[in-house]
Amino acid sequence: LFLNVLDEVDSTNAEVLRQIPAGAGKIPVVMADCQTAGRGRRGRVWQSPRGENLYLSIGLTFHGGFGVLDGLSLVLGVAVANALEQLGVPEVGLKWPNDIFLPDGKLGGILVELQGELEEGVVQVIAGIGLNVHMSRTEGVDQPWSSLARACPEIEWSRNQIAGAVIDAVLDAVPVFSDLGFRDFREPWQRRDIFKGKSLQAKGGEIEGVGCGIDDNGNYQIQTTDGVVPVRAGEISLRVM
Ligand code: BTN
Repeated sequence: LFLNVLDEVDSTNAEVLRQIPAGAGKIPVVMADCQTAGRGRRGRVWQSPRGENLYLSIGLTFHGGFGVLDGLSLVLGVAVANALEQLGVPEVGLKWPNDIFLPDGKLGGILVELQGELEEGVVQVIAGIGLNVHMSRTEGVDQPWSSLARACPEIEWSRNQIAGAVIDAVLDAVPVFSDLGFRDFREPWQRRDIFKGKSLQAKGGEIEGVGCGIDDNGNYQIQTTDGVVPVRAGEISLRVM
């Protein structure tokens, strides 16, 4: 690992991107106490107050072109859920494609950014993970959220310890995913699916039905009256009706 722990940064994802040449041959990992321009999925801002939460990014390299990336964000979700369960958090849920949920709301999110192809078939990816640990503010947060301190007040939360567990879990999962693909992650993902059995709608109501898990490629499946319709990540967002 090439680990960098910073006081303040625009975005840990952006910092990994800047550091990739410096850490050549090592896996770059960046953590920061706060982010001034934390980014979420779909161009949203990720609230990153100082000292409260985990802001962590890991640079990963894959061989075999962009195709190998189908399912990576789901794999990362499973890895983060494993790490949290190991730390004693019960009922960790996953919301397709890659939000980490607890029963009272969103605990964290994962932002996978493609840096591009280094050389033919070698792809650089940045996996950014944000987890609410002591999150106290609510301004700018547009949905019910949770934090580890609120959900599990009996545990004395240390961001370093959480980071260690998350990095370990990600570095355990990535080679399995590289070698064998998404296959082994389907069941552990499915088991934590918060949409399962819920009435869902996608494409602004064009597709309506009941959530029934993911297929072998990590697409979300909706059971409609006309059969099962797979939904690709990035295309649309799912809404509970
Ligand atoms: C989401 O929208 O749910 C994904 C949020 C990802 C936030 C993390 S915090 C660490 C890393 N750096 C960023 O700028 N974003 C990710």
